[in-house]
Amino acid sequence: MDKIRIIGGGPLNGEIEISGAKNAALPLMAASLLTDQPLQFDRVPALRDVSSLIKILEELGVACAYDSQQKTLKLHAAKLSGCVAPYDLVRKMRASILVLGPLVARHGEAKVSLPGGCAIGTRPVDMHIDALRELGAEIDLAEGYIYARAPQGLTGAEIHFPKSSVGATENIMMAATLARGTTVLHNAAREPEIVDLGSCLVKMGAEIKGLGTDRITIRGKSFLRGTAHAVITDRIEAGTFAIAGAMTGGTLTLKNAELDHLGALIDPLYKAGVDLAEVPGGVTVRRVNEALRGIDIMTEPYPGFPTDLQAQMMSMLTVATGAGMVTETIFENRFMHVPELIRMGADITVHGSSALVRGVKKLKGADVMATDLRASVSLVLAGLVAEGATHVHRIYHLERGYENIVGKLNGVGAKLEKLKDDSEG
Ligand code: EPZ
Repeated sequence: MDKIRIIGGGPLNGEIEISGAKNAALPLMAASLLTDQPLQFDRVPALRDVSSLIKILEELGVACAYDSQQKTLKLHAAKLSGCVAPYDLVRKMRASILVLGPLVARHGEAKVSLPGGCAIGTRPVDMHIDALRELGAEIDLAEGYIYARAPQGLTGAEIHFPKSSVGATENIMMAATLARGTTVLHNAAREPEIVDLGSCLVKMGAEIKGLGTDRITIRGKSFLRGTAHAVITDRIEAGTFAIAGAMTGGTLTLKNAELDHLGALIDPLYKAGVDLAEVPGGVTVRRVNEALRGIDIMTEPYPGFPTDLQAQMMSMLTVATGAGMVTETIFENRFMHVPELIRMGADITVHGSSALVRGVKKLKGADVMATDLRASVSLVLAGLVAEGATHVHRIYHLERGYENIVGKLNGVGAKLEKLKDDSEG
């Protein structure tokens, strides 16, 4: 196991290149199952989650070629050799559930392990299953697997999602592209990653209307063709580094970041005394006040404040002046970073799905444990401003979603070092 040592210190200044979005790349990779023609994706980040999904696609017979220098990924599902996504691979990366819809639509059957929960919550997939049944798939759940069959193909339907779900919207949108007739998704999720997936599907010949709204209409086709597509940049990575700039008091330029994807961050950061501005080729973030002010945030589906930036924002609030309330409405257990931040001297009180953060003058470096992807990066951010050294253990969580974070932060003045972790058995 590895850990990262962070020596807290001065402001971050300079430019950070934002990578392609993990949460856009993963569904785009699953879309390769929908066609027997080759696809090429650019700006695919070199992440554990990407390599985990490549393993699953290879298991299904997809030819995969990733160039981690060029960040290009070539996928060709000419002929599928199987339809099983096994537990030992799915458990490592629950977004593997996204192969379910494309497999049933293209292949007529699928056996996909139930992804199970993770640190932030039980993460059910009932909406994926219910919606696939409405498209005509027969689905059984047994021995921890989803067995789905549609030997006569899928048929379009009116689908009403009981709540906004990114993954369910992506899975069913992909399946509907090859269904007979028209599918309408009501209460669809609106995240930019869904728009990116939909725009790639349209380039493949799909007929999709309403991307970015909560009502998406898909008119099924008998086949889809190959295409080339560049993944959008990662708004969560950009938001993470924007908060790092806010906390350390420097001026950072986030190269290739898209300000309109960070919409929900602009106002809270402005209230906290931080300015986010669009510049040619990216976004700059700089402190406009001497001290950060405490603010309240509540996570919501896009375009609301993203749950994937909740932990990072909480880190910022620990050293702001005054108090701030953080309310998590998407996942039931997404405060795993709280006890670790408290170990660093933060003053946080949790009441159910809300946490009251009272700003303190200084955090103190400590040994802390990463538990999930965004909690781990919130600890790195805290380490950037803490007195002394902070060691974040179990950083494989971090490497699932942040490409070269040590190099990127050190490139703007931080002092991070990746070390062997001999404290872990
Ligand atoms: C996606 O997860 C992202 N992952 C998550 O990012 C992100 O936090 C989440 O969307 C919300 O924005 C990827 O895109 C790979 P949901 P997903 O379905 O699709 C409940 C990260 O850090 N739900 O929108 O799994 C669910 O439990 C990760 O990059 C059901 O009840 O999220 C949650 O409470 C973490 N039944 C809510 O809906 C279902 O069938 C939203 O989940 C599906 C979801």
